[in-house]
Amino acid sequence: MNRAFQNVLVTGGAGFIGSNFIRYLLHQADFHGRVINYDILTYAGNLANLDDVVQECGQNGRYVFVRGDICDRESVEEVVRRYDIDTVVHFAAESHVDRSIHDPSAFIKTNVLGTQVLLDVARQAWQGRQDVLFHHISTDEVYGSLGNEGAFREDTPYDPRSPYSASKAAADHLVMAYFHTYGLPITLSNCSNNYGPYQFPEKLIPLMICNMEERKPLPVYGDGKNIRDWLYVEDHNAAVWIIMKNGKAGEKYNIGGETEWENIRLVEELCKIYAELTGTPLGEITNLITYVKDRPGHDRRYAIDCSKLKDELGWQKAHDFQSGLQKTVQWYVNNKSWIGNVQSGEYMKWIETNYGQR
Ligand code: NAD
Ligand code: DAU
Repeated sequence: MNRAFQNVLVTGGAGFIGSNFIRYLLHQADFHGRVINYDILTYAGNLANLDDVVQECGQNGRYVFVRGDICDRESVEEVVRRYDIDTVVHFAAESHVDRSIHDPSAFIKTNVLGTQVLLDVARQAWQGRQDVLFHHISTDEVYGSLGNEGAFREDTPYDPRSPYSASKAAADHLVMAYFHTYGLPITLSNCSNNYGPYQFPEKLIPLMICNMEERKPLPVYGDGKNIRDWLYVEDHNAAVWIIMKNGKAGEKYNIGGETEWENIRLVEELCKIYAELTGTPLGEITNLITYVKDRPGHDRRYAIDCSKLKDELGWQKAHDFQSGLQKTVQWYVNNKSWIGNVQSGEYMKWIETNYGQR
């Protein structure tokens, strides 16, 4: 496989997984290229996630940020041309299921139309080149919801059930269509729930930790028995890099943690870790657990069969759940100013002053 990896366009690189990916990639001994982070900076995208990367890269030119919308064709064409892009790693998305239930429109625009714009610009710019790659980041939620048994495989039929997962499923189909119709060299990965530093505090794990800090209620949806499969964000990104290097064009790969937990058990575990780390009486934290109305259409269980990735490409996760959770809780406890920053309207004002109106 002779893929160039000289000028890598990372979309959504200021978000949770994308920022961790940029940090990870720039530290890989077998990556010698440059990263162009293309992000519009929604509420979920924060340049503060990359302060250390900017400091480390200094003037060496290996990291560049461009503010832009993936739906804006002219802007995408300009960045692909200016930086001679040979690789796209496409993280940019509206990513929160609850927001998609409240208002699906932004999800269709960014996740479906934005993906089609990127695919089309790449196809036109690359003109049949085979040393290029479009890697699309997707989710296990496209497969729907499981009962007590079984796990999603790459050939599990798609059955998305929320506006978010429907938009991601549509994007996945477009990615495959560009491979089959135009021969665009693509790879695609469907990953389970990520956790780790820099995750916006609207998703379960960071929301719970932030609420513990402020002694606010810890809202558990429904009966708390929905099951998710958890993976430390760096293990996801290591899998993405392996797929980029060795994955077969036109193939999709499942990525998962093989770590299924009921939500309520996970929240209780987080309470325990938080109480121990901060020297708080456990009861003071567990008393905050509050059962609330269920999410509409709440998928019951996700589980991922990632044997293809392990057997064909040799990936293995490096973090067990206990140590990953401890690292994560410690990170949020140590980074209160980051939390304040990303949650404040001040941050959005700063973005507008420095990068113009969205
Ligand atoms: P996130 O919400 O933290 O970050 C999304 C980023 O995309 C933000 O920086 C945002 O500013 C940017 N963005 C949004 N709309 C844009 C647009 N129109 N143009 C340019 N940039 C735009 O999301 P995340 O949790 O890091 O997820 C990243 C990707 O991984 C998504 O595609 C998501 O579907 C997928 N995924 C996430 C998980 C998870 O557990 N978080 C698991 C599997 C797959
Ligand atoms: O499976 C991969 C997906 O994981 C990604 O594609 C999505 O981008 C990502 O947001 C995540 O989706 P979930 O809906 O599984 O994640 P969330 O953190 O929102 O919720 C995890 C579980 O916790 C889910 O069963 C709903 C529940 N929950 C969530 C929140 C925010 C609660 O009980 N209380 C809450 O306050």
